[in-house]
Amino acid sequence: MKEVVLKVENICKNFGPTKALTDVTMEFYGGEICGLIGENGSGKSTLSSVIAGIQPPTSGVMYKHGERYLPVNPVDGQKKGVAMIVQEAGTIPNISITDNIFAGKEQFFLKGPFVNKKAMQQAAKEALDKIGVDRMDPADNINVLSQEDKKIVEIARALDDDPELLIVDETTTALSVYGRDIIYANMRRMRDEGKAVIIISHDIDEIMAQCDSVVVLRDGVKVGRLEKEEMNGRAIRNMMVGRDMSENYYREDADGAVSEEVVLEASDISTEKVLKGIDLKLHKGEILGIGGLTESGMHELGRILYGIEKPIKGKVVLKKRDSDYKITNPWGSVKHGIGYVSKNRDVEALLLTTTIRNNITLASLKKISRGGFVSAAKEIPMVQEEIDRLSIKCNSMYSNVNSLSGGNKQKVVFGKWLATGADVLILDCPTRGVDIGVKSAMYSLIEELKNAGKSIIMISEELAELIGMSDRILIMKDGQFTKEFPRNPDLKEHDIINYMI
Ligand SMILES: Nc1ncnc2c1ncn2[C@@H]1O[C@H](COP(=O)(O)OP(=O)(O)OP(=O)(O)O)[C@@H](O)[C@H]1O
Ligand SMILES: [Mg+2]
Repeated sequence: MKEVVLKVENICKNFGPTKALTDVTMEFYGGEICGLIGENGSGKSTLSSVIAGIQPPTSGVMYKHGERYLPVNPVDGQKKGVAMIVQEAGTIPNISITDNIFAGKEQFFLKGPFVNKKAMQQAAKEALDKIGVDRMDPADNINVLSQEDKKIVEIARALDDDPELLIVDETTTALSVYGRDIIYANMRRMRDEGKAVIIISHDIDEIMAQCDSVVVLRDGVKVGRLEKEEMNGRAIRNMMVGRDMSENYYREDADGAVSEEVVLEASDISTEKVLKGIDLKLHKGEILGIGGLTESGMHELGRILYGIEKPIKGKVVLKKRDSDYKITNPWGSVKHGIGYVSKNRDVEALLLTTTIRNNITLASLKKISRGGFVSAAKEIPMVQEEIDRLSIKCNSMYSNVNSLSGGNKQKVVFGKWLATGADVLILDCPTRGVDIGVKSAMYSLIEELKNAGKSIIMISEELAELIGMSDRILIMKDGQFTKEFPRNPDLKEHDIINYMI
């Protein structure tokens, strides 16, 4: 018999009128990696945060090894053996890596009235060693790290006091193969030590590969649990959405022909770190896919095309009918009809402390203003249209973006650029963190935009979506394009992978 590490019983969590969790009862076992899945807003992060002590449940009880468990905050949760890696950025800015790893635990390093920094740094180094990381100096400020390395710091913090239960909330999609392997290796180590692991992901293949069981939530209610031998993509998908889902969400035509007209041209783009003389032409009405590993330079290229980052050599030009416009900064890009969906939505794409309405209209203010004033008569329908077509799950358009689930935040970012009516869209992992239903809606929207003559660059780590959607795919490796594929829906992933690694 497997040992129950944690049991949640009749957990409810309400946010005002929103019932995020309703009577959720389930058990998590030692020696098991359990997948937790469900559509955006189904309550996965809420349940995890209740378990980890980030917020209390509205009602219901929890037991750890049969004893009542109610953490008062995450540090308390961690003390009681439960650790969590959150979906959003979870590090504290402007302080060192060491201080991040031991935030809230400084009292263990006191020497008289002072914190013994040396000892703490040494311990931080050991915490990183323990998870298999030696590529950072714990004395460094956290700000110098990439998004990925910040996540790795969170992992070190979470695992430092050997939790009995680890929750990994949608972390892996933001990481490179390196970071993912670190997480997977540590999850397996914990399982082998008889501990419990919960992983949340929208990637059903990942869930099937990593987990021993999977629990499905729908609208805050537990709808079922599948054991390893019962798991298959179709069963999981159907349980999630409550109806039979077809597997084909991509465009159906095989026609990759596009107009000769070039709308955006990059020439000889080089950067100090990765990119080496990149040339690229985007045509009117084209969906141009760019694929590669996280560190290939493709995300950097996306930022350069939009003007957030500057290359040391080369230029990006928007071809206008009357004149060319050289891209040098994001404000100019917005003004000239370019949109950009960032991979790091929390850092680059959203104003987290304001409403959905303000976020959606942010890039379209000119379109809906007259004489310096925003016209509510134009603004409100514009916002409602995006909420409807992306089925953004919210109480109202006046809700704060912060109150949305991860995937719903991503929809707001996408909606913002749909609202502007931009002619050129640069999408960096646009479907990251969105559930399969919304993914399929986003693909239809992208196809509609193409058919309306808009031009789209889609940077993605998902080969299936590149193959399914692109008129042309460029593969990047070590800052250079290694291969171009014309549209061919029958292309196989392994035909592409060779050019990436
Ligand atoms: N602080 C909050 N205030 C108000 N509503 C909230 C808050 N946190 C979560 N919610 C709501 O609770 C519901 C469940 O959200 P949760 O973040 O748990 O979803 P999720 O399953 O993690 O989704 P995703 O896959 O998009 O990350 C959503 O409707 C969300 O808007
Ligand atoms: Mg979530």
